[in-house]
Amino acid sequence: MTDQTSNNQSKSSSIAIVGAGVCGLGIAWRLVQAGRTVEVFDKGEAGRGATWASAGMLASGVEAEPGEQALLALNLTARRLWPGFVRELEAASGIDLGYRDEGILSVAPTRDDAEQLRFTYEFQLGLGLDLQWLTGAEARRLEPHLRAGIAGAVFSAADHQVDNRQLAMALKAAFLRAGGILHENREVTGLDMEAGRVRGVWVGEERHGAEAVVLAAGPWTGELSWVPEAARAPVRPVKGQVLTLGMDPQAPLLTHVLWAPKIYLVPRRDGRLLVGATVEEKGFDETLTAGGVYELLDAAWRPLPAIEELPILETCVGFRPTSRDDAPILGASAVEGLILATGHHRNGILLAPVTADAIARLLLSGEIMPEARDFGPDRFARGKLADAV
Ligand code: GLY
Repeated sequence: MTDQTSNNQSKSSSIAIVGAGVCGLGIAWRLVQAGRTVEVFDKGEAGRGATWASAGMLASGVEAEPGEQALLALNLTARRLWPGFVRELEAASGIDLGYRDEGILSVAPTRDDAEQLRFTYEFQLGLGLDLQWLTGAEARRLEPHLRAGIAGAVFSAADHQVDNRQLAMALKAAFLRAGGILHENREVTGLDMEAGRVRGVWVGEERHGAEAVVLAAGPWTGELSWVPEAARAPVRPVKGQVLTLGMDPQAPLLTHVLWAPKIYLVPRRDGRLLVGATVEEKGFDETLTAGGVYELLDAAWRPLPAIEELPILETCVGFRPTSRDDAPILGASAVEGLILATGHHRNGILLAPVTADAIARLLLSGEIMPEARDFGPDRFARGKLADAV
């Protein structure tokens, strides 16, 4: 257990952040860089929630779907921030983030899959995304272990990847080095309020004064029973089962992130190959199931049969923090001083830098970044999304 605070009754000018995943820590780091006193609380260890189970894909291009045009602008802003964010964070933390820029290859094993992929590709081209259609033979030149007979593929050179776990460790290190205060294994149990506004948080009997509180507890944000009704985030967990296989790092089966129907495979430099992920509405059910593992292996084997020789190194069950409209919730809640930074669904890692900048800017200057304007919590209160989910 880590508890790096010695002054529990912190100054009231400090900011409290609930949740030490990449979004909470990213916001916290930006705020300490700006000279603010910041305390981050997590009911477990930093980076061990949704962050831990994710794959680290920065897939704003190939993941763009109809109806998500506003989200695309935010995703593309995040994508532009990533290279500079990596350089800055690696320098500040001394930790390699495992950033890889080979790009993402989305493959269609059959003709039917190719028709679907072509439809998505044309939609994405219409959004101005820079993507390239490849024949099966061209895809196999990029990835020689792909099954013969691949019917077509789309290559997105600008969609990269990062090691999500290294990212969390780097944010934690950078935050602590900059003077931040991290409370791991310390669950916030209440909000201290005065005259309708936030004055701090309670951890059991212990009060930590704060002029603002940021809720960045990922899929658990909607479960925080002490949050006033008016500020409750409509966030639920969407379960994902993930496998890690072991490749020979000297002769990896894959170098690009690979997408295929119902599956993605993410190769790390150290030889790990992440295979993810199921999408299940099962609440916080942590069971790894035979059906889930079968589904993953079957879907991965279709484009890349050679995976059958690889050892299984790890299995993992995680929870995506999914909002009522699948988009993040970024901004001030209806309770004065209580800010939401949650609901990132499938894009928490991609959106970490832009979430950090947007929420830090809001707290430091009261400004809302133009790309974040559509994602305020008030969109739910206005009843615009009353029929969703
Ligand atoms: N972004 C990948 C996933 O949610 O599984």
